[in-house]
Amino acid sequence: MRLSPAILAALATAAASGALAAEGDAKRGEALFERCAACHQIGAGAADRSGPALNGIVGKAAAATDGFRYSTALRRLAEEGLVWNSETLDAFLADPRGYVRGTRMSFRGITEAQDRADLIAFLMAADTRDAASGFDVAPETLAIRGDAAYGEYLAGECTACHSSGGDIPRISGMDRDTIVVELHAYRAGAREHQVMQLVTARLGDEEIAALAAYFGALE
Ligand code: HEC
Ligand code: HEC
Repeated sequence: MRLSPAILAALATAAASGALAAEGDAKRGEALFERCAACHQIGAGAADRSGPALNGIVGKAAAATDGFRYSTALRRLAEEGLVWNSETLDAFLADPRGYVRGTRMSFRGITEAQDRADLIAFLMAADTRDAASGFDVAPETLAIRGDAAYGEYLAGECTACHSSGGDIPRISGMDRDTIVVELHAYRAGAREHQVMQLVTARLGDEEIAALAAYFGALE
């Protein structure tokens, strides 16, 4: 199932140079997201922290994440029909406490319009990253207990890309089941990404389980 070293090297270079990634602004936005990350998570496996997880936020109704305790102020605006799109996000991020008077988000805001645009581009791009959420893997497939040692052996094919940072998501320490679901989603074509579809096309269920066991157990 292994890809040749030459193909891997070419793919890794392409991925790192951004040729396979979204536009550059989203990349800048990802770096700017540092300012949000103390309170918000985004991407596969994101959970609510002091702020709600932001997966799929662009195009979503405000205050619509189940189980998160929003301020009365934001819930009221949501009842009036507030939906997050690039315009409303821009206004909110410029001045959170002016746009939603009484918000629980204690964040001063972002003065530079370009910074806000880059952040919003990142929030949009991150949506496609989470495309697999909701993809169904049969319980018996999810229950396969992977052999972490075999996974470590197979992982040589992954670390060419997944240890280089940049646009490539970190998979070490990711939730085991999430890794299984994401890999099956790429293999089935339910999650779009040329390289990952190519990589997973060669993996069997046992191999996916082994890789998830290995990466899931890392720090
Ligand atoms: C100090 C913590 C904190 C920081 C920093 C922070 N937020 Fe928030 N954010 C919150 C909280 C708390 C809420 C819920 C607000 C409410 O209920 O009024 C929220 C709400 C939001 C919402 C609305 C979510 C929804 O479901 O309606 C968006 C969008 C958002 N934040 C984006 C950002 C972005 C982008 C950044 C970085 C530029 C950021 N936040 C920085 C705490 C934070
Ligand atoms: C040539 C580079 C490359 C190789 C090789 C590669 N990946 Fe990926 N991988 C990526 C990129 C880029 C993404 C982000 C794709 C996207 O946005 O959907 C990704 C996404 C993922 C995700 C989803 C992460 C998330 O946050 O949702 C998992 C899991 C993953 N890869 C596991 C693996 C495993 C396991 C291997 C080895 C069998 C592997 N990858 C090999 C580049 C690579």
